[in-house]
Amino acid sequence: MRLALIVSLLVLGMFALAVRAAMDEPIPEFSDELLQDAEMIALGEQIWQEQCRACHGRAAYPGKAPKLKPSRYTPEFVYHRVTWGFRGMPGWKDIYDERERMAVTIYVLSDRFSP
Ligand code: HEC
Repeated sequence: MRLALIVSLLVLGMFALAVRAAMDEPIPEFSDELLQDAEMIALGEQIWQEQCRACHGRAAYPGKAPKLKPSRYTPEFVYHRVTWGFRGMPGWKDIYDERERMAVTIYVLSDRFSP
């Protein structure tokens, strides 16, 4: 019984450290040039179709996820949500690498964005 407690405390501690390490990862810089990059926009659109539309898309079940309002967001905000998630929004850190997470951020903020 006591061993189980110690093991759970250890696991919890490791988990807390991992979360901390993740939070410490810096947010990359989004230059104006990068925000216009056609290749990044195209890659981001692909990721949007694959993963994000199911919850945020026009055809998603109402109430599943909020309708995105890109004009209100900074790239850093979107990247942060995409990377670490928030409440019902899953984080994608272990699924997409930094470039891919940047691409979907850039797509959401681009003129091509269509939920
Ligand atoms: C499983 C459903 C689901 C998927 C898949 C999903 N999201 Fe979300 N997302 C949510 C929910 C729910 C919220 C609201 C979280 C909250 O604020 O409580 C959210 C919030 C957000 C926000 C913040 C919106 C705001 O106005 O506060 C952004 C930006 C976002 N998601 C982008 C994305 C992107 C980009 C993807 C694809 C990589 C994605 N989401 C995939 C469910 C999802």
